[in-house]
Amino acid sequence: MEHVADDVEFVARRYEGFARHYAAGSSPSYARIALGVARDQRVLGLVMGLPAGNKRQPNLLLGAVRYLGGPVGDWPEFRDWLVENWDRVESVVLERATQTNEVRRCATLLPVLASLPGPLALVEVGASAGLCLYPDRYRYSYDGGGLIGPADGEVVLECATEGAVPVPERVPEVVWRAGIDLNPLDPGDAGDVRWLESLIWPGPREAARRERLRAAARVAAGDPAWMVAGDLVESLPRVVAMAPREATVVVFHSAVLAYVSPADVAAFAEVVGGVRGHWVSNEGWRVFPEWERARPEAPTRFTLALDGRVVAHTGEHGQSVAWVG
Ligand SMILES: C[S@@+](CC[C@H](N)C(=O)[O-])C[C@H]1O[C@@H](n2cnc3c(N)ncnc32)[C@H](O)[C@@H]1O
Repeated sequence: MEHVADDVEFVARRYEGFARHYAAGSSPSYARIALGVARDQRVLGLVMGLPAGNKRQPNLLLGAVRYLGGPVGDWPEFRDWLVENWDRVESVVLERATQTNEVRRCATLLPVLASLPGPLALVEVGASAGLCLYPDRYRYSYDGGGLIGPADGEVVLECATEGAVPVPERVPEVVWRAGIDLNPLDPGDAGDVRWLESLIWPGPREAARRERLRAAARVAAGDPAWMVAGDLVESLPRVVAMAPREATVVVFHSAVLAYVSPADVAAFAEVVGGVRGHWVSNEGWRVFPEWERARPEAPTRFTLALDGRVVAHTGEHGQSVAWVG
């Protein structure tokens, strides 16, 4: 994300906004801690010592503390630990980035992927550890119904539906998978998986998300996708050019373009329009506000579109899909 002014008032407002609008509903302890940061001049001073922009964001700071085993239950304990361990926290913040990889998003992508003529060649941009590149290896249950997917699938993704979601009877055939990321993570590397675990917020959904993450990392590590380190605009054409001719190429992304400047979002839309195959976008509605029906009623939901046509609004972690297409 780009910021015009990243002064201390802006950073304090950012932590307060994170607490009130994002963490309050799903992670009460993160909400308390982020509010604490927003009101504490000493801690704000430490945060201001980090490079401006994404390095100052709440998710990254909180993830770094978790990664180091710091306390994330309450503000006073968190504050004391943070001040005492600032050098170590700063190192992790400088080395790492927010790359939350939420495999459950496959449950919201599946109805679109299964509607396309197979077999599929998947290209995920902003893939993180590439866990969403295996929609054919996971099992799915919509509204608590029967399981779809391979009988030996270890990962089960549950999803609630609204409207006429075209729930498929089977998963699509995937014959090729590639991921592009500025910093691809390795699902077979214990440190990378632990970093991904550290990015999961404490709260009622934490244990289930961690279990899914570990199981999906085992799937991905067992059959590594081709992961390309690079920018999504620059790398996409050469990656798509390598996909098998007989397969339908699907370029897709979730929770990525909010981290990209508006100029690069526009450049990406142009590039993706110029490569063969289909484009599936699952992002906050503000990324493409001009699309018809882009704006969901619930502000935290994502907007799911196929080739620029909005088909659904989805839970940000893949927990729900409301069909509008
Ligand atoms: C929040 S994570 C989402 C990961 C995954 N798409 C998911 O849904 O679980 C965003 C990812 O986008 C990557 N990213 C951000 N800007 C990028 C760019 N310009 N080119 C390639 N990857 C980028 C980050 O490195 C990060 O791994």
